[in-house]
Amino acid sequence: MCGIVGYIGNEDAPAILLKGLSNLEYRGYDSAGIALLNSEGVHVFKEKGRIAALEKHIDPSIHATLGIGHTRWATHGEPNKRNAHPHQSASGRLTIVHNGVIENFVQLREQYLQGVSLKSETDTEIVVQVIEKFVKEGLGVEAALMKTLKFVKGSYAIALLDAENPDMLYVAKNKSPLLIGVGDGFHVVASDATAMIQKTRRYVELMDGEIVELTRDSYVLKDLDGNVQEREPYTVSFDAKDMEKGTYPHYMIKEIDEQPAVIRRLLQNYTGKDGKLATDTAIAEALNAADRLYIVACGTSYHAGLVGKHLLEKIAGIPTEVHISSEFSYNMPLLSKKPLFIFISQSGETADSRAVLVKVKKLGYPTLTMTNVEGSTLYREADYKMLLYAGPEIAVASTKAYTAMIAVFSVMAATLATAKGLTLGFDPVHEMSLAALAMEQMIDEKAQLQEIARDYLSITRNAFYIGRGLDYYVCMEAALKLKEVSYIQAEGFAGGELKHGTIALIEDGTPVLAFATQEAVNDHIRGNVQEVAARGAHTCVISMKDVTDRPGDSIILPKVHEYFTPLVCAVPLQLIAYYAALQNECDVDKPRNLAKSVTVE
Ligand code: F6R
Repeated sequence: MCGIVGYIGNEDAPAILLKGLSNLEYRGYDSAGIALLNSEGVHVFKEKGRIAALEKHIDPSIHATLGIGHTRWATHGEPNKRNAHPHQSASGRLTIVHNGVIENFVQLREQYLQGVSLKSETDTEIVVQVIEKFVKEGLGVEAALMKTLKFVKGSYAIALLDAENPDMLYVAKNKSPLLIGVGDGFHVVASDATAMIQKTRRYVELMDGEIVELTRDSYVLKDLDGNVQEREPYTVSFDAKDMEKGTYPHYMIKEIDEQPAVIRRLLQNYTGKDGKLATDTAIAEALNAADRLYIVACGTSYHAGLVGKHLLEKIAGIPTEVHISSEFSYNMPLLSKKPLFIFISQSGETADSRAVLVKVKKLGYPTLTMTNVEGSTLYREADYKMLLYAGPEIAVASTKAYTAMIAVFSVMAATLATAKGLTLGFDPVHEMSLAALAMEQMIDEKAQLQEIARDYLSITRNAFYIGRGLDYYVCMEAALKLKEVSYIQAEGFAGGELKHGTIALIEDGTPVLAFATQEAVNDHIRGNVQEVAARGAHTCVISMKDVTDRPGDSIILPKVHEYFTPLVCAVPLQLIAYYAALQNECDVDKPRNLAKSVTVE
């Protein structure tokens, strides 16, 4: 949600900032801007809309080796040019970009900025104006920044330019993500490493309540009391080529295609020398010591958590609950005696999930984060971590991270079952490898899935997915994917529940797509299909070869172990959504109103 970048070095800053912003555009794309500082002063360019719109308005005659940039997902103030970042202080000396939410901005304005006329409706402008007020009262910029931040309540990742010091870039962080990239004779600032991966793979993490003074050759980290903090850079595990789209028209389809490879890589990373799946011993012990697991997540990750619950309970016999992060924060269930909390997050930055993590850590409970981003906030702050190894996920709609999450839950469940001495009755590595193969086969069925999207979804306003058991969870994800990328209103329903009300919505031609991969409920879900077909629904049954298929089924998936059907179902549900989005001429990789990393609660 909003992305920020900065550069201080010897190369041309505009090109570096623009590249960084376009890498971060998935975090928000309402408006964008950059500020450049050179011997002539500060030059600010901002535009409503995408980075491409901004790029056209940058004066190519301006050369600078220091600058900051921002791509915005509006929280305070309409998404227009006036509210776009960077924002400047009244005198124009200070220029800021900010990701986060300043909760007490009204109070700050009333307390410190009486009589100051503001140029925007943003909370961010308040911060830069307050810093300038303290500078005018005699403080240096660094001291004024520290003083201001002590008064600020909320989340921020900030980069600040001082027109009177063209050799310094100030940076600060609290709750919102921010990294310093280290290079030879330059430093970069980025909301995440993907932004500046073309420049460097070495990054320094910032902790909450820290500021950094960056020059071309040095970085000095301090807490808000001015105490210097020592921290060495780490090297990120991916490189620039993992971020490229190659010959694919969209990241979403590239990432759908990558899924079998992701599952195989993940299996490799979680297989011990004995060929058996294994989590780290400490993790296995912590999970085993818990009497109940609480999975906490949002959106697609929540849907993966529902599948995870099924696997953990059925394979490993551990009672598991799944909760939506934003609800959990104020509606905490009664907890068991020895709970362990599992946070699932592709980005590792989701503010709703982090709020729960902070809360349960305060209560003293053990925490585990399952994430795709090593070094992310949720990764750093949990006691235990499990990586997804999915590689950078750029499309806003999550695909490969979803299947990787389900695969990691499978690893977790199998490891726990083995540790408890339970007999699995199947070889999880073998069965998951077969699932990866089946995913590959479904990826090869693109033409058929495009036809399904055309036949069922080309002229509809709404659609239903129905399923039972594991298929129900798959339906919830199918509906979310369809909604977010194609803007078709969709609902994922438990097959048996439809008749208790929602069936009233079924009319002639309403698309109802049923997942029927679970043998135990196959007859029941087919009964539900009949019920809606009798009322005019245009039905499509997605079943599994040799287990649940019947003559006339629309899509038949290759046979896999019933625990791993969600991995295979993911491919058609994602491809149907993708092709429906293309039909509706939607911006597949950057759907309206969405941001990939939701860093506000
Ligand atoms: C849907 C999607 C979102 C995210 C949700 C959580 O395609 O991407 O629903 O799953 O915002 O994000 P993470 O997993 O980063 O915590």
